Amino acid sequence: MSGSTHTFDLVVAANRLPVDRVVLPDGGTEWRRSPGGLVTAMESVMRGREGAWVGWAGEAGDAPEPFEEDGMFLRPVPLSEDEVAYYYEGFANDTLWPIYHDVIVPATFHRLWWTAYEKVNRRFAEAICDVAAEGATVWVHDYQLQLVPAMVREMRPDVRIGWFNHIPFPPVELFAQLPWRRRLVEGLLGADFLGFQRVADAHNFLRACRQLLGLSTKGETVTSTLEDGQTRVVRASAIPISVDFTGLEELSRRPEVIQRAKEIRESLGNPETIFLGVDRLDYTKGIRHRLKAYAELLEDGEVSPPEQVFMQVATPSRERVDAYRELREEVEKEVGRVNGEYGDIGSAAVHYLHHSYPRDEMAAMFLAADVLLVTPLRDGMNLVAKEYVACRHDGAGALVLSEFTGAWHELHQAYVCNPHDIAGLKQTILTAMRAPEAERRRRMKAMRRRVADHDVQRWASRFLEALEQAPAKPTRTPREQREDEAQAAADDKAEQRHHAEHAGVNG
Ligand code: ADP
Ligand code: G6P
Repeated sequence: MSGSTHTFDLVVAANRLPVDRVVLPDGGTEWRRSPGGLVTAMESVMRGREGAWVGWAGEAGDAPEPFEEDGMFLRPVPLSEDEVAYYYEGFANDTLWPIYHDVIVPATFHRLWWTAYEKVNRRFAEAICDVAAEGATVWVHDYQLQLVPAMVREMRPDVRIGWFNHIPFPPVELFAQLPWRRRLVEGLLGADFLGFQRVADAHNFLRACRQLLGLSTKGETVTSTLEDGQTRVVRASAIPISVDFTGLEELSRRPEVIQRAKEIRESLGNPETIFLGVDRLDYTKGIRHRLKAYAELLEDGEVSPPEQVFMQVATPSRERVDAYRELREEVEKEVGRVNGEYGDIGSAAVHYLHHSYPRDEMAAMFLAADVLLVTPLRDGMNLVAKEYVACRHDGAGALVLSEFTGAWHELHQAYVCNPHDIAGLKQTILTAMRAPEAERRRRMKAMRRRVADHDVQRWASRFLEALEQAPAKPTRTPREQREDEAQAAADDKAEQRHHAEHAGVNG
């Protein structure tokens, strides 16, 4: 440990810092906002709180010196070229990511990658201990850092440690494939409190503790016996993440954003319906399924440009991992084919944009879109769905939402789809497009109420309170327990309704 002079009562650790250092073609460098939902959420949580953020600056080699940004102390952790390849692209994104997302693509196992994962997790743990004040709260994030809780606990028994998983936690049948499964669970059990997106994710974790490590669980808690014979109790519970509702609503009400939304509509030829997709270019997002359904709707003559257009924003992601490279090639080939077949001069069927945009431009796109298509095959939450809802201060717009997202468990008034069922997906897209205005508004109003009541600040407060009290008290107040039960009942009902509706399509 280097012994930092700056120490903090709150330390956040995530694989990425909120900003990436990018080397420009002229050799200069600039800082850009990092991609993904984790950074979006935690950036707004940390605004207005004092604390340190430990993470990687996004490029291989020496780490920049620690620095301050927006009142936050950023502590970069270096990764070598090999570590980027083995720990980040390898173990995190080619071993864990597929296993934690239903093995949509096969997972790759390499012992060398695991060794790098352990080594980098230790480096993060050391950096955390370096900036954590006596008795600090340490909040570790996501699948890249699952060994960190136990490593920090070993070095700093004085701190309180929480971990939140932004992605799903897999069923034990899939998790069991990992040769390092025991080590991962033991790593997590170094925390005082573990947060998950869905109740099912917390249950999957508790089941892994029981079935793979033989630990005893009771309700939301798991008990393990330490080497000195003492027992530790860890709580695992669902606290779904959210968005900065007030900030997004304020942004989307700005006259310049409303004006920009109009310009976007005009530049697309003022169509009757704009469909929008916004995703990192990731195989979990169901972009291929969405394009297939849309191409068939074009073929069937149910939609056609210029009356209907589809705008797909596909953010560059993990471009050196094979599965991502292949996905990009396939998506771009399919967009080319569809436009060649169904587009015309000045009138594309699909507008494909492979860029990152500033927040105000994203808000303008959400305002311009009549139907947002969110069709992941598996997604921890999907903040884009909630952002769309938060931006629709006009009460208009329709959300098509996959039942395999965390967001669906809160947004039952969306037009729900199973993206694997192409016929059903087509039907849902048409239903959302043709729904009477009053119905769309009723649905949007209910979803907006939900997101406004459960915004990102409430998520963070609930997490930090649960961590503060863990493991002594249940994380749910009696009111929240009743809400959970009502939610579970509503999930069941919505699922039954969805299956009944789809029985008509597939028998
Ligand atoms: P994931 O974390 O898997 O990428 P989420 O939907 O939870 O998925 O979060 C994605 C975040 O990235 C959202 O805040 C979204 O607004 C943002 N985002 C997605 N695409 C872009 C883009 N092209 N430019 C800027 N921000 C983007
Ligand atoms: C998801 C993960 C984050 C990750 C983000 C972007 O949101 O939960 O941990 O940071 O995707 O992916 P990347 O690999 O570019 O960091």
